[in-house]
Amino acid sequence: MRRFRILLPMDERVVVAGAVLDGGRLLAARRTAPPALAGRWELPGGKVEPGETVPSALVRELREELGVLVEPLERVPGAWPLAPGYVLHVWTARLLSGEPSPLQDHDALRWVTPEDAFSLDWLAPDRPAVSWLTQSMISA
Ligand code: CDP
Repeated sequence: MRRFRILLPMDERVVVAGAVLDGGRLLAARRTAPPALAGRWELPGGKVEPGETVPSALVRELREELGVLVEPLERVPGAWPLAPGYVLHVWTARLLSGEPSPLQDHDALRWVTPEDAFSLDWLAPDRPAVSWLTQSMISA
């Protein structure tokens, strides 16, 4: 008989991604690694470390990866499975200071309007959140 490890939600490690919004545009970042994901676009972010809150992890990740200070605003409804044991949460965020630049993990950044967001090849787990975001940007 096969045995399965049952993953309870409390076992899951959160990867938080930021939907940075500015002037009616959404910030997209192109990954450089791992090879299977290189060249694909994502909402930038990373793993929440033990002891961190999800919003504070987002602030840290975007400072490290893009050199900006952001204020997390609200969570995009939903949670999307990643590799086993990991789940993606997305938060909207406001740019408080700095000009985003691809300091680590990315080789390009792009500000996209809701109308042209889906011209980019997004990572699959990000797509539902990007859909939700573009719809709420259009109806705002
Ligand atoms: O930088 P860190 O190792 O903390 O995390 P990451 O490599 O940015 O994210 C861990 C994994 O989450 C990635 O390998 C992607 O598979 C996934 N991810 C995603 O699907 N969408 C995002 N917006 C961010 C991460």
